[in-house]
Amino acid sequence: MQRHTSIAALRAALDVERSAGHRVGLVPTMGYLHAGHQSLIERASAECDIVVVTIFVNPLQFAAGEDLSTYPRDPEGDAIKVEVAGASMIFAPSTAEMYPQAMLTTVTVDEVSTTMEGATRPSHFAGVATVVAKLFAIVGPCSAYFGEKDFQQLAVIRTMSRDLSFPVDVIGCPIVREADGLALSSRNVYLSAEERAAAPVLRRALDAGVAALTDGETDAGAVRKVMAETVATESLGELDYAEVVDADTLQPLDHLGSAPARLLVAAKFGRARLIDNCDAADALATNIL
Ligand code: PAF
Repeated sequence: MQRHTSIAALRAALDVERSAGHRVGLVPTMGYLHAGHQSLIERASAECDIVVVTIFVNPLQFAAGEDLSTYPRDPEGDAIKVEVAGASMIFAPSTAEMYPQAMLTTVTVDEVSTTMEGATRPSHFAGVATVVAKLFAIVGPCSAYFGEKDFQQLAVIRTMSRDLSFPVDVIGCPIVREADGLALSSRNVYLSAEERAAAPVLRRALDAGVAALTDGETDAGAVRKVMAETVATESLGELDYAEVVDADTLQPLDHLGSAPARLLVAAKFGRARLIDNCDAADALATNIL
């Protein structure tokens, strides 16, 4: 296992790999790895010759008052999980290495950044797009793997990479869930036992939305209502949004059937703010085809 903390050392190591004709895979993370991250690393390892996992808790994507200082960290455990999942390089820079001086350049992505997470956390996606742009510039040509749990983030990164012509193939990977449907997230560690028991309501809300679509509902407002009402059945969950959006533009839909649709929910359970989503294509196909 190679562990790099400097940009120059990582670039030199990747140059060696590329000159040997090796295809590079990149899995950007903020550490505290779980089975969802491991599934990304496993996929990258199956498709690439060398996989670099980046571990960097990026201050730019946390607003004042968010959990930057308490974000869970486990560098030793992460190294084991990276190796078990088949990657052989970790890039774990310090904040000073990534941002040696105040950043005068910020990458912002219009349209797909504005709704949902972007509405609740206005500076978040500029922070994500900026650090991912830096990682793409540091790592160079590669396939980069991101989880669909952060569906809007994936759309922001795809758009940013396309617009700025990064030589990167951005690959979205399926959500990994606990047996009761809760999507894996590093922030699940914040949940109390009672909140953990309540949190799978997010998955039930998505299921209720899909069931409404399968029953022939085409009014997006009605589907939003069904999802919101499902979250409201759990008193420990405080709904942020229940949305039905165009899966490409992330803009809210009025009616279903004319564009690829995605259902998304976000809610707070105590200090944990959790998100989840699902594709509406299968449910819509039942009615449309
Ligand atoms: O999804 C994450 O863990 C982060 O937002 C990312 C993509 C690594 C950027 O810091």
